[in-house]
Amino acid sequence: PRLDLGLSTTELIGRVPLFAGLAPDRLGRIERLLRPSLAMPGEVLVRRGERGDSMYFISSGAVAVTLPGLAQPVRLGSGDFFGELALLDDRPRNADVVALAYCRLLVLDRRDFHSLLDEDADLRGHVEEIAAARRMPAAG
Ligand code: CMP
Repeated sequence: PRLDLGLSTTELIGRVPLFAGLAPDRLGRIERLLRPSLAMPGEVLVRRGERGDSMYFISSGAVAVTLPGLAQPVRLGSGDFFGELALLDDRPRNADVVALAYCRLLVLDRRDFHSLLDEDADLRGHVEEIAAARRMPAAG
């Protein structure tokens, strides 16, 4: 659906490399599950210690990830995702995530996240690989 964000979900998904090589039927499925959302600069998207019910793909904009183990916040931008750890590990959010600019996000709810990963081994592999690096205390 085309929202007042100016871009359709399809166009937003096109900006996320993780989805780039997917077959059209897979893309259609993902497109139906992702919910476009707009964040304002300074908006707190994820709060450390809270329960997480969704993860986020950044279609445009940038966010800062802050967690106690990291000297510097980690900056994530277009094509990156965050909020996957709480869903994979069934644990509270391990970091704060704050929008650094206006962001176009695609939000995926917990249940849909698990169905998508169950259906697509490549997608699971990619998400797991990045999650594994982030679980290491010194990861940037
Ligand atoms: P989650 O724990 O659900 O919420 C906070 C998110 O911050 C976490 O998922 C990851 O997506 C992200 N995150 C945590 N640590 C890092 C890191 N070292 N680098 C980038 N992102 C991270």
